[in-house]
Amino acid sequence: MRHLIVPSVDTQHWFNIVKSNNWVELGIGILTMDDGMKAIPLNSNAPDNTATIWQKHSFRVIPRDAKSLNHWTDLIDRTLYHALEDFWPKSHEVIGDVLIVKLEDQVIQHKEQIGAAMLKHMPNIRLICADNGVEGKFRVRSLEPIVSRDASVSTLTKIREHGQEILVDPTKSYFSARLSTERNRTLVAAKSLANELGRTITVCDPYAGVGPALAGLLTEPDLIDAAFVGDLNPLAVDLLKQNVSRFVRKQNSELELEIRCQDARKWQHDENNNNRMDLLLVNLPHETINHLTDLLPLMRRNNLSLIRGWAIIDKGDLAAVSRKLEQLFADHGAEDHRLSCEEIKGFSATKSYIRIESWQTFGKSV
Ligand SMILES: C[S@@+](CC[C@H](N)C(=O)[O-])C[C@H]1O[C@@H](n2cnc3c(N)ncnc32)[C@H](O)[C@@H]1O
Repeated sequence: MRHLIVPSVDTQHWFNIVKSNNWVELGIGILTMDDGMKAIPLNSNAPDNTATIWQKHSFRVIPRDAKSLNHWTDLIDRTLYHALEDFWPKSHEVIGDVLIVKLEDQVIQHKEQIGAAMLKHMPNIRLICADNGVEGKFRVRSLEPIVSRDASVSTLTKIREHGQEILVDPTKSYFSARLSTERNRTLVAAKSLANELGRTITVCDPYAGVGPALAGLLTEPDLIDAAFVGDLNPLAVDLLKQNVSRFVRKQNSELELEIRCQDARKWQHDENNNNRMDLLLVNLPHETINHLTDLLPLMRRNNLSLIRGWAIIDKGDLAAVSRKLEQLFADHGAEDHRLSCEEIKGFSATKSYIRIESWQTFGKSV
């Protein structure tokens, strides 16, 4: 990095000139040289060494590593940083090469500077977006692109999970990178079910979104023989189809596959789907418990089966929810029922996010 070399006593004077012209390399400090001279880091906008403005001062190229900065906020103008110290975003979410950040009102007017600093500090990020919450009946993200590395403001990106590439667009379909541990556990539980049954299994993921849970399941050799998957959001189903077709291409064995854009509660209206599923995923956290009644007819009878679901419930309601589910499953003929309802994270001051895992044998048709 090119530096302007100035006598120590003149540092402030030259720093002011460089900074007021936007020639200073932000976030990289002024260096003191062995001979006591100061080296001011210049960015690529600064005029070349022969320009008259420099008044014959010398220059040195000194290697400096922007990555050695501890945090992207080190790249924010120091005066501005200290003036708004409490309001700079403390966390962000990365989905593929898109970074999503919530901005407090106090710093929103500096969003371009925030975006530029983040982009500079995180070389794998292509696009920085402000998070404006969720919108619409499918609760997709409302994202405002702030700054892009390559001029594209497309929020379509790819993530990697289970060694698979998954196409994701958070403005078109719900996706949470944070649930990858749950998806891993689903795969482990599915293998355990197949193991206990001594055969391949049929899976139903009717709230599949872009299909992240299927990345592991459909690419695992000799695990799944048929998959019934879908989502009510047509934009999610577009991406789901692309993702699933890539997952199954890697499978050698024949797999029966059905992808539908429909309300999950309607799968039961096609008789062929009933009494078929060994494994059911129910991931519509605000509605999971209400929808279960319409999903149970899909489960295979007289066989061990597994349902994994995720729900948002009132804090303190865990025992009541558990009892309600015990009763619901019993009413649908579940025998040898092993149910676990476990809080996996807080959701808000009043709500919890829970995992429901239910192993049973449905003994009679309902
Ligand atoms: C919490 S997301 C889960 C998505 C996906 N399983 C994942 O883990 O990323 C819930 C999904 O259910 C879809 N959805 C909402 N209502 C639905 C319904 N009645 N039937 C089927 N899908 C529905 C939404 O579009 C969304 O993609």
